[in-house]
Amino acid sequence: MNTSVSITINGVAYERSIPIRMLLVDFIRYEAGLTGTHVGCTFEGACGACTVHLDGDAIKSCLVLAVQCDGRWITTVEGLAEGSELHPLQIAFNEYHALQCGYCTSGLLMTGVDLIEKDSELNEEKVRHGITGNLCRCAGYSNIVDAILSVARARTREEEE
Ligand code: FES
Ligand code: FES
Repeated sequence: MNTSVSITINGVAYERSIPIRMLLVDFIRYEAGLTGTHVGCTFEGACGACTVHLDGDAIKSCLVLAVQCDGRWITTVEGLAEGSELHPLQIAFNEYHALQCGYCTSGLLMTGVDLIEKDSELNEEKVRHGITGNLCRCAGYSNIVDAILSVARARTREEEE
């Protein structure tokens, strides 16, 4: 059984007729063609590779049905950059060597941006706790934490000036 939805992803409205059981991650990847959002586990919420923002909050898109997002807005990793200008956290991941194979990276970027935007007093403990739902099988956690903290601290300095 199909139903019609309109879901805005990175500012573009995607109007589709989809099976009611379609997961949001499948809508993003196969209906919108945005393959930066990954699937790293068997759709059980275990790895965080599918993390996106739903109405501004980080969520695992394998745990949400696309129909639940009708009329709502999504940001994926493709929506982080502004034109050719990368998001500061994308730049920091590069500078801090916070990725190896990169499979977890889009999910960690989306979780990291959410942490930075929601908490102006981030510290290492909060970041480590905040990314517990995102698995990195290459185990680059120290550099990932350092990258997120560097952007959080830069934001704090900007706000204080
Ligand atoms: S694909 Fe692993 S948590 Fe969603
Ligand atoms: S960089 Fe390979 S899984 Fe994280």
